[in-house]
Amino acid sequence: KIKQKMSGKITLTMIKPDAVKNGHIGNILADITTAGFGIKALKLTQLSRRDAELFYSVHKERPFFGELVDFMISGPIVAAILEKNNAIEEFRNLIGATNPQEAAEGTIRQKYAESIAANAIHGSDSDENAIIEANFHFSGREVY
Ligand code: TYD
Repeated sequence: KIKQKMSGKITLTMIKPDAVKNGHIGNILADITTAGFGIKALKLTQLSRRDAELFYSVHKERPFFGELVDFMISGPIVAAILEKNNAIEEFRNLIGATNPQEAAEGTIRQKYAESIAANAIHGSDSDENAIIEANFHFSGREVY
């Protein structure tokens, strides 16, 4: 289990179904490790509808919630726990803006995303959520 003491040092990512289908797993993991993130946990998996609804429950009143859940369960994803100092901000800089059309040159979303919904990759938005999301995806024996 990821404990509170890791706060600030980890983030949770998912390589989303579009990027997996389009063959970008290797390139995205290379970008992540080149940027200095360590991998603490990693797996290919597919979310159930219930998993996706729970993971994105903060967005359940948003107009795009149904589309977001349908998309996230549409195929396999790669989930990972990543380690770096100032992990949340550093990783959000690496992935770029939610809308790939607004994502800076060289960011993962600018290079690999298709659209605002199919935007290639997830990154936790706070230290608190990183720990919740890490423990959502991984059990103790899966974390290095
Ligand atoms: P959000 O938390 O705002 O973005 P981010 O992933 O950059 O933290 O939204 C979560 C996901 O919801 C986003 O990655 C893609 C999807 N989404 C849409 O499909 N349409 C939208 O208009 C927005 C804002 C998000």
